[in-house]
Amino acid sequence: MVTGTPGPCVGNIAPIERLNFSGLCLHDGPLAIRQAIYASVFPAELSVAASWDRALSHQRGLYMAREFRGKGAHVALGPVVGPLGRSPFGGRNWEGFSPDAYLSGELVAQTVEGIQAAGVQATTKHYILNEQETQRNPSVNANGTTIEAISSNVDDKTMHETYLWPFANAVHAGTASIMCSYNRLNGSYGCQNSKTLNGLLKDELGFQGYVMSDWLGTHAGVASIEAGLDLDMPGGIFFFAGSPSYFGGNVTLAVNNGSLSSGRIDDMVLRIMTPYYFLNQDKDYPPIDGYTSKIGFFPAANYVDNFTLGPIVDVRQQAHTKLIRDLGAAGTVLLKNFNSSLPLRKPKNIGVFGNDAADFTQGQYSLAISSDTVLADGNYDIGTLAVGGGSGTGRFTYVVSPLDAIKARAQSYGALTQYITSNDFIAGGGIAALAPVPLDVCLVFLKSWASEGADRTTLVAEWNSTVVVEKVTAVCPNTIVVLHGAAPNVLLPWANNPNVTAILAAHMPGQETGNSLVDILWGDVDPSGRLPYTIAKNETDYAKNLVNSTALLETTDPNAWQADFVEGNLIDYKEFDAKNSSVAYEFGFGLSYTTFNISNIQITGAPANASRRPNPSAPTLPGGNVELWETLATVSVTVTNTGSVAGSTVPQLYLTFPAEADAPTRSLRGFDKVALNSGASGTVQFPLMRRDLSYWNVVTQDWTLPVGNIEVSVGFSSRDLPLTGNLAV
Ligand code: NOJ
Repeated sequence: MVTGTPGPCVGNIAPIERLNFSGLCLHDGPLAIRQAIYASVFPAELSVAASWDRALSHQRGLYMAREFRGKGAHVALGPVVGPLGRSPFGGRNWEGFSPDAYLSGELVAQTVEGIQAAGVQATTKHYILNEQETQRNPSVNANGTTIEAISSNVDDKTMHETYLWPFANAVHAGTASIMCSYNRLNGSYGCQNSKTLNGLLKDELGFQGYVMSDWLGTHAGVASIEAGLDLDMPGGIFFFAGSPSYFGGNVTLAVNNGSLSSGRIDDMVLRIMTPYYFLNQDKDYPPIDGYTSKIGFFPAANYVDNFTLGPIVDVRQQAHTKLIRDLGAAGTVLLKNFNSSLPLRKPKNIGVFGNDAADFTQGQYSLAISSDTVLADGNYDIGTLAVGGGSGTGRFTYVVSPLDAIKARAQSYGALTQYITSNDFIAGGGIAALAPVPLDVCLVFLKSWASEGADRTTLVAEWNSTVVVEKVTAVCPNTIVVLHGAAPNVLLPWANNPNVTAILAAHMPGQETGNSLVDILWGDVDPSGRLPYTIAKNETDYAKNLVNSTALLETTDPNAWQADFVEGNLIDYKEFDAKNSSVAYEFGFGLSYTTFNISNIQITGAPANASRRPNPSAPTLPGGNVELWETLATVSVTVTNTGSVAGSTVPQLYLTFPAEADAPTRSLRGFDKVALNSGASGTVQFPLMRRDLSYWNVVTQDWTLPVGNIEVSVGFSSRDLPLTGNLAV
């Protein structure tokens, strides 16, 4: 019950026929049932974050989980809010939402609720401070010394206000499971840290589900169990050579020799079984990929997490495809639109350039995993980047490439599409190969790879992207650049090139990527995505916030890898605001094909009359003290579409706290996605909960309302905030 076993899924809890318990099938990941065939590949959480759309986030969770359920997977190994995105170079940031804790918290709650509404258990991961891939696991150096994993060292205030925040939303939403992370934190391993597991998660946040280890992230038996780890994954599995489980028979031994209480074992099993019954997984749960020789049971031998059992169930649905297409568009951010070059107005001669435009040429699956969980680099040259690599990827049954979708759209009204998808060929002067007709518009597709197992080494799009843009803009005064993949990217040196008339940050849209993009390009859909991160002017403007060096890679000191989170809460826009430095495109920014006005700020509620701290005798339910989640004030504004076409926008609310709170210059505490017809107005309400208005007081160890005035700013980005008001607290 508490130890993984070999089986058909990425993680397996063995069946117990005597109890008619079918076992548990656990599968990656955050954007698809990863390795399955005939399943959908959804947009990555990065795209969800860029959509700023709670409803789409919920729907994605629901539809994705229906595919997990259809395949017989009880537990989905997602969503991700760790990494949060402390460093723009983090290799797995795209698996999560945004470096803003509030935005991530809102969207993870919706995702968890969506997943569990389908009767599938959500596993919110990786808990916690899993902010870099480099040295995420221990290694053995040339002398044979074990060098321990990176230790992320953080203070109590930052832990609560930034990194724990979205996990609290996930717990509040009822996440069945939490996956502890590979890294150490403040010196102890993530799956063996009593402060974070027993203390913060189970006591303070009232988490009632189970903590499972990341794969081979357990480094002790009794010590981990006593620190709060409930489930060891993958357990002692043959294909992870030389990795017997610290759990398994050792747990029995520990109970029998008195070093572990059987009460704690009961607690672990109760935590593991509660979601199973709560979500009715004991009733008519589909068998694993249709394997029906004995419903739900699988023989525990001979497979490696690859679904080789059954007749292979097709879990795709039309509704899923539509959602993927819509969300891919909703997560696309229009950064520049000079002279309204977009939407396209039936251009007759279209040029398409870049290796990211084409269909895949090296297969449809970017896992590239080796036996010791070190992930090889799955990057590829020609082929669109629709999702990242590693365990958070998906196996595509098809992809609609940007080039295919553009050709189809162009052909529908008789236009000519000319294209070159080899960046090397373009860089070598290949544009001369095009027919000598003036191009009405040139679409350049650039990409930035990111994958589990490695951090990014550059924020500039790859594959000679700068030269590709130069070559195209040299012949084409109306060049539109589309970026796919990891974010943020720095857009220099071409962002201000006058021939680059429009820029779209299209993120990781999943299998319908080309269709999502064509919907935006030809104006069927208004670009309503907004940046869930900051785009700086230069790579050096970001504090790198990654620990890595040649000296460290050769160290003989087992504790050499230390990441001190000295910047505290000041990551992403909070860092740039604190330094008052200018950026290329700020957090929350994005253009639309129409224009919006915001007016009439109203603030109701009287938090000044509320007690400074939540009542300590109020119950602690999943999410913490229930009073933290009570609304103390509401801000409302009117938003009007002042342009000539229908469109959507994202009004955003930021708070500036009094000095007592020692808070960032501005912190996001409200947003909504609003669709309005031309000329129409709507009222937007931002409820502010006690937690939204509080800071973490390290002395009293409690969320505390500051005394004084909180400044409320509302607008369309973190730096476009025309409305202000005051909230007495
Ligand atoms: C390691 C990854 O960190 C985790 O996210 C994933 O769920 C497991 N491997 C299983 O593939």
